[in-house]
Amino acid sequence: MSDINAAEETRPFGTEVGRLLDLVVHSLYSDREIFLRELVANAADATDKRRFLALSDEAPALPENPSVRIAADKQAHTITITDHGIGMGKEELAENLGTIARSGTSAFTASLAAQKPEDRPSLIGQFGVGFYSAFMVADKVEVISRKAGGAEAWEWVSEGRGLYTLKPAAREEAGTTIILHMKPDADEFLEPLRLKTIIRKWADHVALPIELEEDGKFSAVTEGTALWRRAKADISEQDYASFYRHLGHSFDAPWATIHWRAEGTLEFSALLFIPSSKPFMPVEEQHDSKVRLHVKRMFITEGAKLLPSWLSFVVGVVDTEDLPLNVSREILQSTPVLERIRKALVNRVLSELKAKAKDAEDFKTFLVNFGNVLKEGLYEDTGHAEEIAGLLRFVSTKEESTTLDEYIARLPEGQNEIYYLAGDDAAALKASPQLEGFAEKGYEVLLLSDPIDAFWPTRTESYKDKKFKSVSQSGALFAPAEASEALGAICKALQTALGDKVSEVTISTRLKDSPAMLVANDLGPDLAMQRLLRRAGRPAFGLPPKLEINPEHKLILALAGRETLTEEAALLFDLAKLQEGDLPENPAAFVRQIAAQLAKAGG
Ligand SMILES: Nc1ncnc2c1ncn2[C@@H]1O[C@H](COP(=O)(O)OP(=O)(O)O)[C@@H](O)[C@H]1O
Ligand SMILES: [Mg+2]
Repeated sequence: MSDINAAEETRPFGTEVGRLLDLVVHSLYSDREIFLRELVANAADATDKRRFLALSDEAPALPENPSVRIAADKQAHTITITDHGIGMGKEELAENLGTIARSGTSAFTASLAAQKPEDRPSLIGQFGVGFYSAFMVADKVEVISRKAGGAEAWEWVSEGRGLYTLKPAAREEAGTTIILHMKPDADEFLEPLRLKTIIRKWADHVALPIELEEDGKFSAVTEGTALWRRAKADISEQDYASFYRHLGHSFDAPWATIHWRAEGTLEFSALLFIPSSKPFMPVEEQHDSKVRLHVKRMFITEGAKLLPSWLSFVVGVVDTEDLPLNVSREILQSTPVLERIRKALVNRVLSELKAKAKDAEDFKTFLVNFGNVLKEGLYEDTGHAEEIAGLLRFVSTKEESTTLDEYIARLPEGQNEIYYLAGDDAAALKASPQLEGFAEKGYEVLLLSDPIDAFWPTRTESYKDKKFKSVSQSGALFAPAEASEALGAICKALQTALGDKVSEVTISTRLKDSPAMLVANDLGPDLAMQRLLRRAGRPAFGLPPKLEINPEHKLILALAGRETLTEEAALLFDLAKLQEGDLPENPAAFVRQIAAQLAKAGG
């Protein structure tokens, strides 16, 4: 070790740095522009540290209005970043920049662990590799630093290939200046406009002002607001609304604003909005949550899937202290910190929805916009299905709009199930013969006409211990009538003609206007589900349906005394399918048959 400080010294990087540099430059970051995020984060950290230490006179106070300054020089091919932070002495330069994974920030944080959280400054970067991201864009990096309270300045220089040099330097004030000698293929970053865009994208909410040189003048380019970090009492509705519009690129006002700070084992701030109108891009297609993740105000990604797809309409920001800046995609998916944040967000959004659902009129707006998306949670997230189901409103045979709780409150004696009929079209559902008999019993039926309605009731199974039951599978409610000899013969003949298309032909006690109706087997999919499966080209499964015939219908009575009913059976079967919104098995043959029958009747 040299005896005089003033001598220039060349040292090798600490162990592993060479390899790690390679890793950082080539794989840790997918996006070169984030070198600026890392260097700005370091400058903000250093300024925070100095501000904090100055409180106890351990460092000289910051200059008035400290900032980070960024200047690009196209002639010299350099970008210079200057701060007034805590600075580094000679050995700190060697320690902090010459050794990897020995993050000065984590050492500093550890030394602060004894302090109360609210006294700690907010420090970005716990990982110890951020600085090296500079070598993604620069083939030489100079760091000129003077420690706050120190007398001399030192310069650290490296081309990132195993060695660095330390030498005395000149710097008037405490702080750090980083000069990046840009690689030939990184010229784009010398454009002030490009720099401005990058800074705004990543660091718009960093509290420390960031100034960019343009035409020889420095001016602030960031907002520094981080609205989510401010106390609710200090934020007006307009502030929220304009932030929401900025975030969601939308023009409406938020329908709900959910702003809170989680304290304790997990610390984060969240500001979430539910839009009051559908976005231009259909939410059904956009599917992945775009809630932005920030770490200590610095933007990280909107790809962290902070909310499940059934809440993908929520826009907003989550800002945590508990993650490093440089989280990779893999870490984003698996870190328990994010898992816990995700859970907390879902619960918070659901409880907000529950509160808002009390105002039925207002809640309708929400359901019209996003009810379909929310419904997806019924089968994607069985853990929350009951809560979600409790929020939804349905059309029923008794009410234009009802919740499941209201439905249950109206249950007559003897009814223990929640009956539903799923189909494509609300008006057609209302007229379905499947409903016949339910009114007499006083049983209310939910009419579900969303495409996904065919799926979720079977998946969700029950709500508050009441099972969902498809009316097209509720044949058991209506015991078949005793068959007279003539009717029995008709049933038998029909059964023979239809073969294994039906499991049974019975005499209905509930049909009024329709000649016949299909009833799905209790086990297996109901009729609406079978229809969807068929449309999707999936093979049918489960037992074939039952055919109930109306013993008072002319069409049925006319069959008495006939021995073979091949054509008639096919016709009845097709008519029953048509009533369900299904196509006859062979539409052309069906049309010919009807035409022939009409001709006979006419002749
Ligand atoms: N502008 C700066 N001013 C003072 N110290 C800095 C500056 N930039 C980097 N450092 C020091 O170098 C260390 C390494 O930085 P970095 O690789 O970004 O890791 P991290 O920020 O995660 O600690 C920091 O912890 C800090 O001690
Ligand atoms: Mg850092």
